[in-house]
Amino acid sequence: MIDHSPASTLRVRRGTAADAAVLARHRADMFRDIGRLDAATYAPLLLASTEYFARAIPTGEYVAWIATTGDATETPVAGAGVQVRTLLPRPNETGTAVLPGPEGIVLNVYTDPTWRRLGVAELLMGHVLEWSRARGLGRLVLHASHDGRPLYEKLGFVATNEMRYTGIL
Ligand SMILES: CC(C)(COP(=O)(O)OP(=O)(O)OC[C@H]1O[C@@H](n2cnc3c(N)ncnc32)[C@H](O)[C@@H]1OP(=O)(O)O)[C@@H](O)C(=O)NCCC(=O)NCCS
Repeated sequence: MIDHSPASTLRVRRGTAADAAVLARHRADMFRDIGRLDAATYAPLLLASTEYFARAIPTGEYVAWIATTGDATETPVAGAGVQVRTLLPRPNETGTAVLPGPEGIVLNVYTDPTWRRLGVAELLMGHVLEWSRARGLGRLVLHASHDGRPLYEKLGFVATNEMRYTGIL
């Protein structure tokens, strides 16, 4: 039987290349749960994502956090990550200074269904924000799902003017 303990009993740790399969599972489940992944594409996405995380975590391009149960099993129940990418020199929001540092894109925010609405994603996002400040990121961006939007708004994220062109592939 699953122990639905409050998020305060969970542990949060940094993900390593050894966690690539767990992180890939979070990513595939996230797209599945938000209705963006058909069944036949689940396995190829899992494979490609596992390869990506195994490659990108050691270089520091991708930084991952995993929430696990606080017991001896240390079962992963949720995750979140940041991909660090070059930010072209640009003004800050008020136009009064040039933004320093790289940009972080928040990715793979996922909580296993039985652990939702217990504050786990918020706990993980706290780690993401703290690390991003310490790392000196110029800004954080993300694409919010329907369920994710209220979480990010609660944390201070605001909608932007981003557009998307899907006609290339
Ligand atoms: C979105 C998701 C990550 C939230 O994870 P979670 O661990 O349940 O989130 P938390 O419990 O930390 O929620 C913190 C706050 O965010 C808001 N929130 C979270 N999920 C919400 C939902 N489904 N509807 C409305 N508000 C929500 C609430 O304000 C919540 O605080 P409250 O429960 O005290 O009201 C989870 O539902 C999920 O994995 N969904 C499928 C994948 C997905 O959409 N990922 C986000 C991609 S951008």
